[in-house]
Amino acid sequence: MNRVYIKTYGCQMNERDSEQVASSLRDRGYSMVDNEFDADVVLLNTCSVRDQAEQKAIGKAGYLAKRKRSNPNFMIGVLGCMAQNRGSELVDRLPDLDLIVGTQKFHAVPDHVDQLIKSYAAQGPRPTTILDLEEEEGSQNTIKDHLPKKDQVCAFVSIMQGCNMNCAYCIVPKTRGRERARPMDQIVEEVHELAEQGVKEITLLGQIVTSYGRRDFPVVGGKSPFVQLIERINDIEGIDRIRFTSPHPRGFKQDLVEAYRDVPKLCEYVHLPLQAGCNKTLRAMNRPYTKERYREIVDSLRAVVPDMYFSTDIIVGFPGETEEDFDESAVFFEDIGFDMSYIFKYSIRTGTPAETMEDQVSTEEKERRNHVLLDILAKRSLWRNEQLVGTVQEVLVEGPAKKGYKFVGKTRGYRNSIFDGDDRLIGQLVQMKVDRATASTIYGDLVLAGVDTI
Ligand code: SAH
Ligand code: SF4
Ligand code: F3S
Repeated sequence: MNRVYIKTYGCQMNERDSEQVASSLRDRGYSMVDNEFDADVVLLNTCSVRDQAEQKAIGKAGYLAKRKRSNPNFMIGVLGCMAQNRGSELVDRLPDLDLIVGTQKFHAVPDHVDQLIKSYAAQGPRPTTILDLEEEEGSQNTIKDHLPKKDQVCAFVSIMQGCNMNCAYCIVPKTRGRERARPMDQIVEEVHELAEQGVKEITLLGQIVTSYGRRDFPVVGGKSPFVQLIERINDIEGIDRIRFTSPHPRGFKQDLVEAYRDVPKLCEYVHLPLQAGCNKTLRAMNRPYTKERYREIVDSLRAVVPDMYFSTDIIVGFPGETEEDFDESAVFFEDIGFDMSYIFKYSIRTGTPAETMEDQVSTEEKERRNHVLLDILAKRSLWRNEQLVGTVQEVLVEGPAKKGYKFVGKTRGYRNSIFDGDDRLIGQLVQMKVDRATASTIYGDLVLAGVDTI
């Protein structure tokens, strides 16, 4: 009865939360398995950001519930954002669920699973669904343990939870609660431990990392707590690269721009959510910046790092976005020249201000706009990768490719890189001469000071 499988939907925050749950279950003697068929307990860590994400998890839970007919002791839990968002309504829809745990209670999962196993073992009536959705002070400090994996090169580190913004379309403030920062010392200690285990690249995570600790820690020497944190991580021996996701344009100040110039381990890749490239739409979305301000941030970053890579999130078909508004957005999107982008079709979220806005855009039109942006993106990312052909790039080797005998890694600009390698190179920084590029990947051979090594 002790084999657990966790399936994760949604963002990197969720992935990190799932790692924490896995680690705490393993400490309790459970064994983590890598597929649902071998598991006695399946936990779905869910996302509510778009309807599709919720429907996928609901579909999966319904499918799993059928297994209870042949194996009544099989257990199903729903964790995370959808649990928080829908709460007890989920039990009405999926009466077979054993466990529903919200975003501030991940650390309570082992206790609940223990409890369920005891109840099932007693062979009485089926235990009632456990619901644990409370807010909990200090819950941000419970996402701190890692499962040391063999040859793990990159790790996520959660630095804060929640979001205090009120973007008109977004459910995250409801699912994740108010902003809460972890103490800087604890984060630094966690990164030290990861470095000792051989981790080379750290990605700092939060819904709005530029707000990190702004109420808890003072600005020192003109530097925000977030920049101070980056500098402290830069000093940790063994760590080669630092990334983060997601900043907010409002919090992207000069100190952070200068960090790209002054902090050597901070990689030249910024994921900076735009959401719309039209001021009217930005205002309707309640995003507190203009496209001109966004452009200014991009320009100031390119001024300190000319070959900076940019990635973004953008929504098409927000209520009231006319064809002209969209065209303006698309022109801006093309002008900035994003190397990567998540393009989302607006999805109505119950309880958000945009839910009741007039002039909802049709599904077909959202689809069309989606394709316009995808085409712009495909051209730009191919062009950008092609610029690298013939150059030598520093690649951090992550491990063997999923298919075939090649190895994969990434450049500082987050270009997926494929080359011939071997296991000894995992975790090493190598030089790759690029000989071919697609929109998503660069291919090449490893070189040493201009001499082929392999
Ligand atoms: N905190 C981050 C990301 C939050 S969710 C940020 O502010 O950048 C990830 C992305 O999902 C958002 O950036 C947004 O582009 C998209 N998104 C959020 N709500 C959405 C909705 N209702 N419909 C479509 N996309 C949405
Ligand atoms: Fe959602 Fe806006 Fe907060 Fe991002 S900043 S999580 S889009 S409310
Ligand atoms: Fe989804 Fe929750 Fe992340 S709603 S995007 S899993 S914070």
